[in-house]
Amino acid sequence: MHKKNILVTGGAGFIGSHTCVALVEAGYVPIILDNLGNSDVRVLDRLAAITGHRPAFIEGDVRDRALLDAVFGQHDIAGVIHFAGLKAVGDSVADPITYYENNVHGTWVLAAAMQAAGVKTLIFSSSATVYGEPDRSPIPEDAPCRPANPYGRSKRMVEEALIDLQLAQPDWRIALLRYFNPVGAHESGRIGEHPQGKPNNLMPFVCQVAVGLREKLSVHGGDYPTPDGTGLRDYVHVMDLAEGHVAALRHAEKAPGLVTLNLGTGTGASVLDVVKAFERASGQTIAYEIGPRRPGDVPAYWGDPSLAEATLGWRARRGLDAMCADSWRWQQGNPRGYE
Ligand code: NAD
Ligand code: WQD
Repeated sequence: MHKKNILVTGGAGFIGSHTCVALVEAGYVPIILDNLGNSDVRVLDRLAAITGHRPAFIEGDVRDRALLDAVFGQHDIAGVIHFAGLKAVGDSVADPITYYENNVHGTWVLAAAMQAAGVKTLIFSSSATVYGEPDRSPIPEDAPCRPANPYGRSKRMVEEALIDLQLAQPDWRIALLRYFNPVGAHESGRIGEHPQGKPNNLMPFVCQVAVGLREKLSVHGGDYPTPDGTGLRDYVHVMDLAEGHVAALRHAEKAPGLVTLNLGTGTGASVLDVVKAFERASGQTIAYEIGPRRPGDVPAYWGDPSLAEATLGWRARRGLDAMCADSWRWQQGNPRGYE
């Protein structure tokens, strides 16, 4: 059977690269478009080693309409998975223009180019951050959206704009996927997350402590109203997320429409749960100290993934131990990322 080409914007990045593996495994042909602003082109060699297929790669920006028109003109593209965007909450507070420009305007240039090319299947990377501080957990998709920073608002603006688009043009097939906390790496240890500079996120920081790059983890708050006093999150394995994108694509292929779905595990783990699981997986001791709360942090939240299961037949299969074991395999084998 003829294999379908899927344009993966931001496909050189953390979640995008793992999704390329899942796409190849599911019989699709990923074509990556990425400006390499937060990624490394050498990921392509790793993807080739894992899957036996080196994805076509276009270095460029989703805000470049002429480039997008050329890409859609040159390739027969069946659908787009749109990861390209910026994701550091703190940076978004300091520089909102850049965030709205990349995340909102970028998506809009892409949607217009898709429209012109007659490509109307779009899977969008949204985030649980659109909920802000929730009234309760697990959070269902119809909970109020009160994003608390420019990054979160940029994601919510795109969601609302895509809902308007699909209402106006009902032949579009759109999935808005709200990820909880993506962690882990492909089980081969050949691809993973490599943040530039000091990691903001918990799992990359723990990895760097385990491998000796950082002295100790600062636990941001030990006095939250949670069982051990540390923050609770819904960590989800990046390969489960990747498979969720393939399931969303298959769902979109069945019929036009728009779905908004949480991708998470439905359970919360505390910072200390993650530390303990990582120690078990790695055999290393993770030095830590309890520090002050991080401004803007929500004490605890996790998602209700039941709608994703009912709609897509997808559920997260990998637990915290696998997330830590796979993160550790990647970190140990690649302490300097793809260098
Ligand atoms: P990432 O930074 O590893 O990947 C994003 C990729 O997009 C990078 O390779 C970057 O170079 C590229 N990119 C950025 N702006 C671009 C532009 N204008 N044109 C072309 N390429 C561009 O991040 P990730 O963790 O893989 O996140 C992927 C998507 O998922 C993002 O949209 C992010 O907001 C969203 N998301 C991430 C998380 C998370 O915690 N990692 C959670 C929820 C949602
Ligand atoms: C997890 C927990 C911290 C670092 C962020 C974005 C969100 C989404 C996912 C994109 C919290 C604690 C962390 C450290 C710590 N991204 N922590 N010491 O903040 O839940 O979500 O990534 O859409 O928008 O905000 O993730 O990994 O930073 O924190 O104690 O050095 O770990 O306080 O409880 P967060 P995180």
